[in-house]
Amino acid sequence: MTSSIASERQALEARARSLVLPKGFVFGAATAAYQIEGAPQADGKGESIWDRFCRLDGVIADGSSGDIACNHYHLWREDIAVMKDLGLDAYRFSLAWSRLFPLGAGRANATGFAFYDRLIDGLLEAGIEPFLTLYHWDLPQALQDKGGWYSRETAEHFANYAAAAAAAYGDRVKRWTTLNEPWTFCWSGHATGEDAPGLNDGAKGGVSASHHALLGHGLAVPAIRAEIADASVGIVFDLNVVEAASSDPADVAAARRFDGAQNRWFLDAVFKGRYPDDMLALYGKLLPDIRPQDNAIIAAPVDYLGVNIYRRSVIAEGTELAPLNFQRIQPEGSYSAVNYEIWPRCIYDILHYVSDNYAPKAIFISENGVATKPETVSSDGHVWDDLRAKYYVDHLEEVSKAAGEGVPVKGYFAWTLTDNFEWAYGYTTPFGITHVDFATQVRRIKYSGKIFAIIAGEGKTLTETKPSARLA
Ligand code: BGC
Repeated sequence: MTSSIASERQALEARARSLVLPKGFVFGAATAAYQIEGAPQADGKGESIWDRFCRLDGVIADGSSGDIACNHYHLWREDIAVMKDLGLDAYRFSLAWSRLFPLGAGRANATGFAFYDRLIDGLLEAGIEPFLTLYHWDLPQALQDKGGWYSRETAEHFANYAAAAAAAYGDRVKRWTTLNEPWTFCWSGHATGEDAPGLNDGAKGGVSASHHALLGHGLAVPAIRAEIADASVGIVFDLNVVEAASSDPADVAAARRFDGAQNRWFLDAVFKGRYPDDMLALYGKLLPDIRPQDNAIIAAPVDYLGVNIYRRSVIAEGTELAPLNFQRIQPEGSYSAVNYEIWPRCIYDILHYVSDNYAPKAIFISENGVATKPETVSSDGHVWDDLRAKYYVDHLEEVSKAAGEGVPVKGYFAWTLTDNFEWAYGYTTPFGITHVDFATQVRRIKYSGKIFAIIAGEGKTLTETKPSARLA
């Protein structure tokens, strides 16, 4: 190692140590069932739309699937040991709906329920708080066959599934997230077809799926509360800081439409009880059947908002996704392996955007992280992902700044705990703070994980009671 690299690393570690965040701030890492579990048919699990989608030709960059992924279904104990080594306070994970209800509704699968019992008990024994997400994109295929998120019935099935999960785990799990990123799974899955279920129905598909998914969220919130009196219930949105590419009124209007579709459509519905007027007018005939009671259902009060933030979007007028009619401009700068601009300020701006406009009681950064090309273990046995390590410090400094200004940000989850199946990118763009050798399933904490452990275990945020992370 050259002395300049060594001194850069020392400087980064010093910045990590001196981060100031509010007392009680939660540090965690996040995953999603389909991206890590594998074992798609084990113990009576039903097929999901991702199991089906990955079988199609040409949809996944490397032709792979989540069939094995991190084999977390069998290696979950090892993953909890990694979390302990990282000094995490919390772990955000999702349930595979079709493990619990193989057909999405009706017959429950006791062995599927038992898997998450073991995982939750293991987390609690390790002193790690479970943050449970009910839906991270893997709809049971049987429900897709009946219309999926185009059908109001899916929303009702979702609420029933939420109630059953809450009844099973609510004695031990208090943090509940209904949906992860409805914008992404509704639009990428139904408008452009890049994600499961692979439908290419344009904006009409995106809007219809979004409304029914939000309805499912709104029905699930009281269903969870009915089972768990002290539940803290929220939803996770992927939000972007949207900027117009120029002051040209056409670009400004396109940026406003994009912000309306990705951010305001979801935030207004949940926090203001109605969809934004400009977007209702824009979608017009594309809108699904929105019934009079739907707005109130969707606006069921939540305890927190989870924000997944990966980038800003610089938008000009264009032709994508009519009637949104935008194009994305790539400002000069550095970009991740999935071509997202690395721009730390986005996290500060988005925290202010949601806090200033919607005033949620609490905000969690439920995902933030960066993709690289696949990494190798160096001869000294380490994975030196300096770019990612710096990314975390840079972004957490922005969180610290927003928190210092009074934004109620209560925690931060790194995306992601371990390298895993990155949807349409397969295994070509890992995001993990822990490296996984997919041939051997050996896990190895990367340099970024070590930096994260410093922050989680030794940063200024620490209360005296917090054990320091045990890392060499
Ligand atoms: C999703 C994750 C995904 C990550 C990185 C988020 O959109 O919730 O499942 O892996 O971004 O692309």
